[in-house]
Amino acid sequence: MAGQKKTAAPGNPLREERDKRLPRIAGPCSMVIFGVTGDLSRKKLMPAIYDLANRGLLPPGFALVGFARRDYADEDFAEVVLDAVKTHARTPFRQEVWDQLSEGIRFVQGTFDDDAAFGTLAQTLKKLDAERGTGGNHAFYLSIPPNAFPVVLEQLSRTGLAKPPESGPGKPQPWRRVVIEKPFGHDLQSAQELNALVNRVFPEETVFRIDHYLGKETVQNLLALRFANELFEPIWNANFVDHVQITMAEDIGLGGRAGYYDGIGAARDVIQNHLLQLLALTAMEDPVSFQPRQLQIEKIKVLSATKLVEPLEETTARGQYAAGWQGSERVVGLLEEEGFDPHSRTETYAAITLNVDTRRWAGVPFYLRTGKRLGRRVTEIAVMFKRAPHLPFDQTMTEELGQNALVIRVQPDEGITMRFGSKVPGSSMEVRDVNMDFSYGESFTESSPEAYERLILDVLLGEPSLFPVNEEVELAWRILDPVLEHWAAGGKPEPYEAGTWGPSSADEMLARTGREWRRP
Ligand code: BG6
Repeated sequence: MAGQKKTAAPGNPLREERDKRLPRIAGPCSMVIFGVTGDLSRKKLMPAIYDLANRGLLPPGFALVGFARRDYADEDFAEVVLDAVKTHARTPFRQEVWDQLSEGIRFVQGTFDDDAAFGTLAQTLKKLDAERGTGGNHAFYLSIPPNAFPVVLEQLSRTGLAKPPESGPGKPQPWRRVVIEKPFGHDLQSAQELNALVNRVFPEETVFRIDHYLGKETVQNLLALRFANELFEPIWNANFVDHVQITMAEDIGLGGRAGYYDGIGAARDVIQNHLLQLLALTAMEDPVSFQPRQLQIEKIKVLSATKLVEPLEETTARGQYAAGWQGSERVVGLLEEEGFDPHSRTETYAAITLNVDTRRWAGVPFYLRTGKRLGRRVTEIAVMFKRAPHLPFDQTMTEELGQNALVIRVQPDEGITMRFGSKVPGSSMEVRDVNMDFSYGESFTESSPEAYERLILDVLLGEPSLFPVNEEVELAWRILDPVLEHWAAGGKPEPYEAGTWGPSSADEMLARTGREWRRP
């Protein structure tokens, strides 16, 4: 059989093992999206579903059900999906793939408090089970504001949709899963309440919390880099590492996102989830195996050991973008963006300092920063090494020599850079920094799937490795809460000009320890 190889397991008779390199195809199922008319659904979810179908990773009977207030017929909704696919899909448009996918597209009109609409949803899913063989397997994707969670969860519970029916003898057990988009609360307490609410309806093993950074190839490659090689791990510790900088910089502003962002800010939007997950993968110990639970155990351990460095007025920084230039374009400041309170104190830049109190990392600061309207779009993890303990050169020869660095370029221009000193050609022994580069684009011919492709497929396969469990979410809030309280009690965030690298307080924060931010 293709992809199966026969291996003799020690002490066991010959057994068949699946070649894990081959992609797994999702079994028969349907996915219901709540909030289907939103931006995320149009730009990411619908295109990802098409891309999966195009790659042959969805079952032929797959069904996509949209639930929203608009008065659409199935065909109108299919048109909306088609438009999203043609505009945003990663893979080329193929009519035959679309024809098959669109046969399974349905729309249910209603508001979240409309019992009858949820009745219609239940009937629609039942009909799809019969018509398209989706077998009672349903994923519910909640791409909705957090305040709508209680009512939607209650409806799914009331209508029995959250609970799979008992399968008959010899039949596969159907599944029900729920997918939740961030924000997972706005502080520890609200996250705990939210988790309790979700778990009352869906058992934890059926809850898939999306942190789309974990779906990025470059983020998963961190684990390959660290645990598949011998080169890096021996120096991946406080003996050799001076500090770590994790940066997620964006050049875009917040026009059009006031409803979500005002009052939330950069720390809740990005540090609580994406950046603390990156820290966890960078700092964790090697898992016993790549079984989901083993990965969770290591991430939970390292997040439990992660602490803020104090005093917070010196070890954190926040800012808010003011008008400026983004390339050749003049852009407005946050307070002039449509929908934002002109007195808003929401930060669009946040930086914090953390220690990981373990034997491996004691004394190594982890600096996390994120911001909108910065110099350019770049996400990277930079592991900065200590300087050589002794330099047997004339001092002028090493003036241009910085710290050795290993930089994982998450995006764009995905890859890894190693920076070290090299002799400048010529008669003197001058040493200067050079870069050695690995680039995905050059080493692999295949382009990387979008994060949402990977994550949606994993939901349908019931593969939870790349989804944070509630303990991780709560630990992340536990780390961040004191900063949020500290900032809430303070004045306004410091303005920084759009197109620059953020507020001066962020530079001062590092300068206090004799360090500086990289300018990627
Ligand atoms: C989201 C944040 O989670 O990530 C946005 O809410 C941010 O504010 C986005 O713009 C960035 O994602 P990516 O994949 O483009 O880096």
